[in-house]
Amino acid sequence: MNRIALVTGGSRGLGLVIARVLAARGYTVIIGGRDPDALAGAARDLSRHGSAVVPVAGDITDPAVRTSLIDAARQLGGLDVLVNNASALGPIGPMLGFDVPQFGRLFPVNVGAPLVLTQLAVPLLAGRRGLIVNITSDAAVAAYPGWGPYGATKAALELLTRTLATELADRGVSAVLVDPGDMRTRMHQEAFPGEDISDRPLPEVTAPFWNWLFDQDPGAIRGQRFAAQQEDARWLQPA
Ligand SMILES: NC(=O)c1ccc[n+]([C@@H]2O[C@H](COP(=O)([O-])OP(=O)(O)OC[C@H]3O[C@@H](n4cnc5c(N)ncnc54)[C@H](OP(=O)(O)O)[C@@H]3O)[C@@H](O)[C@H]2O)c1
Repeated sequence: MNRIALVTGGSRGLGLVIARVLAARGYTVIIGGRDPDALAGAARDLSRHGSAVVPVAGDITDPAVRTSLIDAARQLGGLDVLVNNASALGPIGPMLGFDVPQFGRLFPVNVGAPLVLTQLAVPLLAGRRGLIVNITSDAAVAAYPGWGPYGATKAALELLTRTLATELADRGVSAVLVDPGDMRTRMHQEAFPGEDISDRPLPEVTAPFWNWLFDQDPGAIRGQRFAAQQEDARWLQPA
């Protein structure tokens, strides 16, 4: 059976690495992102693996875009893996100066969109014992000065994911959290404007984790939280 995955924010950074791992494993991959040119470039990159790639351009907060992403999976025959990776950083700075209405942008991108995509995807995932992977951050659990609003959205995503993992168990759908760790990406550079971030690893450092994750029985890892760059991790041990 053709395996199908959907990766939001699959046009660059971590999402492109996850999509590459899935394509190399033979998945047909649906990728999302706002910039159509970047998305087309990513689709060309991914199609080198011989798998079909379906780019769907648009903002993840747009209901029509979310419907198009799920319709693409339905037309392909179903969905095995949903990766909610696209995210907004928002302003980094002290919470006393935070422009609270900006939560009105951060929460729909980081929390609302993953939940709506999950709602739309569950009927497809249920037919295939599917896996939902929600990308979180250590900012969800540690109190980093300046990172409060972004961290609050990721903390909300973590609670929703753990709750979904229990609610969806009897439908055969699993959900997990993955903290990818610091990576040299556009989002990370935006968090440290003008700073040299060359000491951070490229997102490709997480590839061994993704290969390990997609080897697992989804039901056996349901509700777990993984740190992809954890040292001495199971996925870094020789087989
Ligand atoms: N980098 C780190 O150090 C780090 C650490 C911990 C957690 N994370 C998490 O890892 C994930 C990936 O981050 P990254 O560092 O790879 O970021 P990135 O390089 O900036 O990539 C973000 C991706 O999401 C897409 N995207 C962003 N907003 C979107 C929207 N509203 N609608 C649709 N697509 C959207 C982007 O494409 P467009 O801009 O074209 O839309 C891009 O494909 C995020 O969930 C982030 O919170 C990153």
